[in-house]
Amino acid sequence: MKRLILALDVYERERALEIAECTADYLWAVKVNWPLIIGSGLGIVTELKQVTGLPVIADLKLADIPNTNGLIARRVFGAGADYVIAHGFTGRDSVKAVMELGETIIVVEMSHPGAREFIQPATDKLIELTNELEPFGVIAPATRPERVSYIRSRLKDGIKILTPGVGAQGGKAGEVLKAGADYIIVGRSIYESENPRESARRLHEEILGV
Ligand code: C5P
Repeated sequence: MKRLILALDVYERERALEIAECTADYLWAVKVNWPLIIGSGLGIVTELKQVTGLPVIADLKLADIPNTNGLIARRVFGAGADYVIAHGFTGRDSVKAVMELGETIIVVEMSHPGAREFIQPATDKLIELTNELEPFGVIAPATRPERVSYIRSRLKDGIKILTPGVGAQGGKAGEVLKAGADYIIVGRSIYESENPRESARRLHEEILGV
């Protein structure tokens, strides 16, 4: 089973397409974030889908009023994104505005050190919100497997956990999958490596061995 998501945080269209194409065999999905959309335009979503045949996750971490979240999400889903990531802390109305338009993934905790300041204290409430709204999944930190276990224990069955933070941020794929993650998200360890295909293959093998 494929459980690896490529975080394609490069600016250049050609480089993005090249890396996505050569790693696609080992991926479940490709995640695009602001750097690639700013660098290459929203059309990159459509192109990535054509080149890889994989689902595309738009990691825009939407955090606005419902109307603005909806205006953004409409265009992004329209470009072919299969999933859009939204923050939950803006409240249920803002999240619902995205969910009405397509499959949504809610951030319940982040992977960087600063996440301890404001997001982690709100995680319980964000999990409650998620259980009520039942989106496709949540984002949880691969850098803290104990938090992934905690989130898994409180989250309704069927809601997927996607975890960024493996590799460059210090998280280990095996640990976080054992803690309850469904998918791991990896960026720099793949796209900055000398051989992105080989790096993706190794991660895929590691996942299969869990
Ligand atoms: O390069 P690296 O593997 O650290 O990339 C991680 C990706 O996941 C980046 O696109 C980053 O914005 C995203 N992300 C994260 N932590 C979160 C949510 C998203 O690292 N909580």
